[in-house]
Amino acid sequence: MNSPAPSAVSIRDLWMSFPGKLPGEHIHVLERVSLEVSEGEFVCLVGPSGCGKSTLLNIVAGFLLQTRGEVIVEGRPVLGPDRRRVFVFQENGVFPWLTVADNVGFGLSGKSAVERRDIVAHYIDMVGLRGFERAYPRELSGGMRQRAEIARALAANPDIIYMDEPFGALDFITRLKMRADLTRIWQSEKKTILFVTHDIEEAVQLADRVLIMSQRPATIQTVVPITLPRPRDLDSRDYIAMRDRIFAAMGMSLRIGEAGSPSGNDKSTPTSPGPLATGGSASERESVGASER
Ligand SMILES: Nc1ncnc2c1ncn2[C@@H]1O[C@H](COP(=O)(O)OP(=O)(O)OP(=O)(O)O)[C@@H](O)[C@H]1O
Ligand SMILES: [Mg+2]
Repeated sequence: MNSPAPSAVSIRDLWMSFPGKLPGEHIHVLERVSLEVSEGEFVCLVGPSGCGKSTLLNIVAGFLLQTRGEVIVEGRPVLGPDRRRVFVFQENGVFPWLTVADNVGFGLSGKSAVERRDIVAHYIDMVGLRGFERAYPRELSGGMRQRAEIARALAANPDIIYMDEPFGALDFITRLKMRADLTRIWQSEKKTILFVTHDIEEAVQLADRVLIMSQRPATIQTVVPITLPRPRDLDSRDYIAMRDRIFAAMGMSLRIGEAGSPSGNDKSTPTSPGPLATGGSASERESVGASER
């Protein structure tokens, strides 16, 4: 039997609050978040807007310090951002003062000029920006800027990629292409990817596991392993069934006008049975209501 892959990311009983506007007030954003991400695993986080997905990713990437709990990445507690891991931001990730080529080559300082040129050209090609190497971000559309940002992240060849709604600004066709490219890169290079998205279809297409977060204060409410073979066919019956079960687990219906709780926190919401049986640790399965610390 194969031994399980070592953990790339371990999150143990993580809590996060921000100071509120009034003295002594706190905004409880995350509570009791525990999670293990294996090396080479592709994990998608979904959940209601404002529940704390970006906050969680920013803590894991070292941009924010948690209130309580532990984050271990590649065996060490996270003390700040690290060059071996890259973060693709929700928007405005590229450096406005650098050209597309210089943005994409930003993380390649240890390479020779020739290697650097080849790597930059490869990733610029992949994201469809050939011809725009010398353009500045202000000269690009929002979607093109986002593609430059994705090329920058991939070119840096990190061990772990944190992606916060990286395809949110892209049109549908480009989004589909980027998903296919990312799947291919992930399959060939076996990066660990932690990917936040609003788009459940995207999560089902990309992930090994989809983690559904509850309303704020958020925890990981349900863990859904996606075992469909890749590349995943958006029209296949298994894909659609998986997608619909995640919608159901989030208390949402695809039919307009049908009653559905918008709250991912609703304990009366049916969770997925059968092959979708929720996995993960006890704390991952736990569904918590609003609580005070
Ligand atoms: N620096 C901050 N100071 C105070 N409150 C913050 C800060 N950053 C985030 N918050 C609050 O934390 C909560 C979670 O925000 P976060 O950006 O993590 O949500 P999200 O799940 O990523 O939402 P979306 O899907 O809309 O991007 C929100 O209520 C937000 O107002
Ligand atoms: Mg966010």
